[in-house]
Amino acid sequence: MHIDDAQICRQLAALGVELQSGVALSTLTSFGIGGTTDLLRIAKHESIPVVLDLLDQVKIPYKFLGGGSNLLVGDGELPWVVLQLAKPEPDVVLEGNLAHVDAAADLGRTVTFCAKHDLGGMEGLIGVPGTIGGALRMNAGAYGTQIGSYVTEVKVYRAAQRKIEILRDDQISFEYRHTSFAPDDMMLAVTLSLPSKPYKEILQGIRICNEKRRASQPMGQKSAGCIFKNPPGASAGRMIDELGLKGLSVGDARVSDRHANFFVNAGRASASDMLALIADVRARVEKAYGVKLENEVVVWSA
Ligand code: EPU
Repeated sequence: MHIDDAQICRQLAALGVELQSGVALSTLTSFGIGGTTDLLRIAKHESIPVVLDLLDQVKIPYKFLGGGSNLLVGDGELPWVVLQLAKPEPDVVLEGNLAHVDAAADLGRTVTFCAKHDLGGMEGLIGVPGTIGGALRMNAGAYGTQIGSYVTEVKVYRAAQRKIEILRDDQISFEYRHTSFAPDDMMLAVTLSLPSKPYKEILQGIRICNEKRRASQPMGQKSAGCIFKNPPGASAGRMIDELGLKGLSVGDARVSDRHANFFVNAGRASASDMLALIADVRARVEKAYGVKLENEVVVWSA
């Protein structure tokens, strides 16, 4: 989708929006998969409602992109533009045990920044890729930690109400890889309340989680983390592994040899290759175990 109306382009520029034409989303997703569209980088939260009104006027559909690390984007010319928040400086501000974090902040860097100021709790999240906004939306978690446990309030653009709201933690439900945010809500900022802990102790926890992750998950390969959510009381990775599906491929889309719930782009995989692999594995697991695996990865079809 291409924005070519000169007046809209001028209005976007006046709102401080950087418009990048024909961006390959494969460069913005950890899968390295995705077609092309225009990208709008938004510097000021307050301009979001105006930007979206403009896009609606000219009937241009849009999607909100976080860090692109849990996302499978379709191939070819995409029928919507993408909005992304520009990262402010600083992106984390501390106030006692509270960390005020912009949604565009990197999750891992936020964990280490807070650690250096003796604020812990989020050690388990250290190797989880992506932004704070993306982590919040899906309630990212690992090694017994989930981000939702530390949230006190969230600043969010609510597309349905067309306004920015501040929600308290008791107005949001955080469940396993799921939150009560609407699919078209855009995370803008969050306040986390973190327990005080000496840096050295936090670092020790971070090292242990890093080691566990290195021992069991593919590192340095193009993936979107786990493809499927774990069904209650079971592990999707273990089920796929038990069926001998490690290494199963469609084109360059491949079930990781290291962790069977990670699918990797081993070269030039397309979205359709990856979707075919996901469908194949889901069907085999359903046939063998009678369990229909639910996607954890978010799919943006072309
Ligand atoms: N297992 C296998 N073969 C495999 C993978 C796992 O037998 O190929 C077995 C393991 O040996 C272990 C069990 O399955 O006994 C569980 O495996 P693991 O500890 O790796 O945890 P998981 O349930 O597969 C979850 C999260 C990960 C998170 C880890 C660590 C989900 C879908 N996955 O994986 O999160 O990093 O625990 O806490 O909840 C993600 O969400 O993208 C993600 C990577």
